[in-house]
Amino acid sequence: MPHHIPTSGRVVAAGAAGVLALGVLAAGSPAVARPAPQHHGQHQSQHQQSHKPAYKNPRLPVSVRVRDLLSRMTLAEKIGQMTQAERADVTADPTLVAQWNLGSVLSGGGSVPTPNTPTAFADMVDGFQAQALKTRLGIPLLYGIDAVHGDGNIYGSTVFPHDIGLGATRDPKLVEKVEHVTAIETRASGPNWAFAPCICVARDDRWGRTYESFGESPKLVERMETAIDGFQGKSVKDLSHPDHVLATAKHFAGDGLTTYDASKAGTGAYPIDQGVDQVSKAQFAQLALAPYVPAIKKHHVQSVMPSFSSVDFTNDGLGNPVKMSANKALITGWLKNQQRFKGLVISDWQAIRQLPGTYSDQVATGVNAGIDMFMEPYSGSATGAPQFEATLTSLVNDGTVSMARINDAVSRILRVKFELGLFEHPYTNRSLANTIGDKAHHEVARQAAAESQVLLTNKSRTLPLKPGRHPVYVAGSNADNIGNQAGGWTLTWQGGSTNVIPGTTILDGIEAEAKAPVTYSVDASTPVPAGADGIVVVGETPYAEGYGDVGGPQWAFDPGDNNVPRPAKTMMLSDADTQAIKTVCAAARSCTVVVISGRPMIIPPDLLGQIDSLVAGWLPGSEGIGVADDLFGHHRFTGKLPVSWPRTVAQEPINVGDANYNPLFRFGYGLRD
Ligand code: GLC
Repeated sequence: MPHHIPTSGRVVAAGAAGVLALGVLAAGSPAVARPAPQHHGQHQSQHQQSHKPAYKNPRLPVSVRVRDLLSRMTLAEKIGQMTQAERADVTADPTLVAQWNLGSVLSGGGSVPTPNTPTAFADMVDGFQAQALKTRLGIPLLYGIDAVHGDGNIYGSTVFPHDIGLGATRDPKLVEKVEHVTAIETRASGPNWAFAPCICVARDDRWGRTYESFGESPKLVERMETAIDGFQGKSVKDLSHPDHVLATAKHFAGDGLTTYDASKAGTGAYPIDQGVDQVSKAQFAQLALAPYVPAIKKHHVQSVMPSFSSVDFTNDGLGNPVKMSANKALITGWLKNQQRFKGLVISDWQAIRQLPGTYSDQVATGVNAGIDMFMEPYSGSATGAPQFEATLTSLVNDGTVSMARINDAVSRILRVKFELGLFEHPYTNRSLANTIGDKAHHEVARQAAAESQVLLTNKSRTLPLKPGRHPVYVAGSNADNIGNQAGGWTLTWQGGSTNVIPGTTILDGIEAEAKAPVTYSVDASTPVPAGADGIVVVGETPYAEGYGDVGGPQWAFDPGDNNVPRPAKTMMLSDADTQAIKTVCAAARSCTVVVISGRPMIIPPDLLGQIDSLVAGWLPGSEGIGVADDLFGHHRFTGKLPVSWPRTVAQEPINVGDANYNPLFRFGYGLRD
């Protein structure tokens, strides 16, 4: 059952007429200088203001506006705010947004309008917003999207390296800049909410979401939480600016700590994604909860998404795993009460439907655990959003869910909407739309790709190659495939080898920088010219979530796949890539191998012995030329491993700090050239 609907200067003064935007990027500074605060609402006389309901008065404190609006709302309007439908549910009939009093709509992975352009996307979002504003109280809509490496769903957006590559950069300021550009491009194309960053700590690289993590160390993940500042700005007051969006710390908590269940491998189930954390409370606190403290206290993240996974505290003797979506002790007890999280908690995609009992039981459990808004797609007349609303209404009427809980949830949702400035500026501010996918933004993507490269071996200082010195021979499955180098969450949920986005492949970069004849042969069947330097770019094809689990199910629903199931995920190089390495390394004067993948891949000792230079390239995104920058010395290799690189799959999970820790390359390793 497909889980998802398959199917872009310096901002100066915000004048009365709007915002003049010139996207200018300077090293070390935020991608776009902070725009002057926009006037919240048009200038009106005190008299006019005094006759508007308090919640519509931007001069009043947010807390006053929330309290006033809440006091005016019916139960149906409150429950509507707690409901999030999917784009496809309201596309044929946008009036459903008003009929269902929806608080939010999302685009699941690959759920985009036709044509898939930033303008069409903004028009679509504004169409839904117009419906929301027609409701009795005119409460504006939140529109959410997985802008997890740039706003990758939308064609024309700048696509950045996935988080595992950003973790390899060890550059918090760069990560802030990447996510600031992402926020600019996301908001200018309509959505005001990014379901990112994942602050997961990936402990077992067989997990299909390893690439969504900044790494295996909670301290490294915490360093990269500058991503939240990039998305939201440094202060909650920045949220209303056109270059910021609501961020989401996900997936709370312990999504990356699940235990691999070999009995599920090859059965069509996920062997590790959405599984069970079998850890002690101390391990859970250190590896799962710890990153949420700075995310809340230092970076003021305003939304949190509970994980599909469960936690089974092995030392509590109960032995019963508890789904995070049902975990009141952690969502309400720890996150809201102890950490004083004031933002909203959004469920994952139909996550409450994985809870025990009837749908009514599931809704009651999720709401009473402390989830505030519910991602309920696949809405028909009696399913999805309408079913959720009817079910929760009954639960309130019979006292199973208290009005206090409803009011807490709705207050949090309204507060975020006021902070985003949606009551004063509900429609897409398109002043920055001309920067979507522009040269300056792609330069940031190129810089991020270059800084994410990790040099693992470099015999006889093969790298950097000297431009113009020798002919260059390029082979391998990922040398000239922008879909593969972008990975999942690109145009479609799972991504795809046939997905094409604006940018450069690694081969494009090599051809631009070699200053010598370049021969390309994907399978190395073309003879290697005498005296050539060889570069073989190998690795994985795209995937997302459990479809990327080693032993996980194979995805075959993307356009371009022609329903041909994708290769099962193994962490092993394909036979074709292995053969290409052997052929080139036997014939070329030097032999460099670049692994383009969402996680470490196994390089057997006999193969490693044939390679002069080995580079971990991760998933560099739209600017493959950033990889060539390191290969040809335009940028020095500075990357460090964000995860341990195992000798064999059998070593997984393998993490720094383990007893008898013996990886092929340790966490934090990286040569300088
Ligand atoms: C997915 C993912 C989550 C994403 C959400 C909306 O299943 O688990 O990370 O934000 O659904 O696409």
